[in-house]
Amino acid sequence: MNVLVTGGAGYIGSHTCVELIEAGHQPIAVDNLVNASAESLRRVAQITGKEVPFIDGDVCDEALMEKVFSENEIDCVIHFAGLKAVGESVEKPLAYYSNNLTSTMNLCRVMGRHGVKKIIFSSSATVYDRDNTMPLREDSKIGNCTNPYGWTKFMCEEILRDVAKADKEWSVVLLRYFNPVGAHPSGLIGEHPNGIPNNLMPFISQTAIGKREKLSVFGNDYPTPDGTGVRDYIHVVDLAKGHVAAMDYLCSHTGEAVFNLGTGNGYSVLDMVKAFEKANGVKVPYVIAPRRSGDVAVCYADPAKSAEVLGWHAQYNLEDMCRDTWHWQSMNPNGYDK
Ligand code: NAD
Ligand code: UD1
Repeated sequence: MNVLVTGGAGYIGSHTCVELIEAGHQPIAVDNLVNASAESLRRVAQITGKEVPFIDGDVCDEALMEKVFSENEIDCVIHFAGLKAVGESVEKPLAYYSNNLTSTMNLCRVMGRHGVKKIIFSSSATVYDRDNTMPLREDSKIGNCTNPYGWTKFMCEEILRDVAKADKEWSVVLLRYFNPVGAHPSGLIGEHPNGIPNNLMPFISQTAIGKREKLSVFGNDYPTPDGTGVRDYIHVVDLAKGHVAAMDYLCSHTGEAVFNLGTGNGYSVLDMVKAFEKANGVKVPYVIAPRRSGDVAVCYADPAKSAEVLGWHAQYNLEDMCRDTWHWQSMNPNGYDK
């Protein structure tokens, strides 16, 4: 299948291109490089031995997307393109609503015109209402988001659901990711956040390599076994493979379906620090700091539906996640920059 991968040069997009190629599909990437480097796709070619056709452009540009669909034979779309920094979304809400909603709506319009009615959308565990009991199931309550980024995911889900309702030929799969971490085991592709990392795992690896002095552990008074926040970390290669499994489903069903992509295991911040130190033989200095506003104590998935319906489950463990993060970090201390 020819798969248009929006945001294909990004962290999850590049790993998904590798898994698509390895499953015999042909990805075509479109990315405006607002948070990525085209080098990631050259590395994908290095891993797989296959070039990924790349269009440097904005999914919000409807005329460009029209051209992309006219010039390429596309069977389905995986829509990763979007802005994703929670803090920045609070400061620049319009940039987030505009980019994330416009890209999704334009894409659907162009897809419809070209009779391509199969889309997988990158959603997030952030759409779940914070008052749910754990583990989160696909039918747990959604909404009550705490930031504009979360609302863009919530709204895109609604838009795509309505598109599938209005035209029965559409097939829409919404994938709710938990906490993607790690990197391809080759160490050639991975995540390199701009500036100071917001997320835990990149902060840990940058501390271990000496770029950051110490990790601040945001709160040790949560109702969890060691008092620190608990999350469902998932290896990015498992997450990427989840998209390949979702594509099989997408192509054999119509209508809308939602799946959690998580492991079902919760690890605390201190579990992550200890696991990283042990897996890699490094030290991660840390201090206990106040809670980060907007954080929940515990968040993890019930991944049973993905296992039952998609036949997918995560295969990498915490040690793999820590080892592969460190491999990427030490091979590429400046990410894709020289
Ligand atoms: P990323 O920033 O590495 O990838 C997103 C890519 O989209 C980037 O390469 C960026 O340059 C591109 N992009 C953004 N707006 C664009 C536009 N208008 N046109 C073309 N390209 C555009 O992030 P990621 O971690 O790979 O995330 C991929 C998707 O998964 C995003 O939609 C994100 O919100 C979602 N998601 C990520 C996480 C996570 O923790 N990484 C969790 C849940 C959901
Ligand atoms: C973040 C996003 C969420 C997104 C998710 C998946 C926020 C508020 N939420 O959530 O929208 O869907 O990533 O990518 O950013 N921690 C520290 N010190 C740090 C960084 C994090 O102690 O320097 C702790 C946090 O308090 C939390 C855990 O580590 O308990 C994980 O944090 P993070 O990686 O930011 O992920 P989420 O909070 O799940």
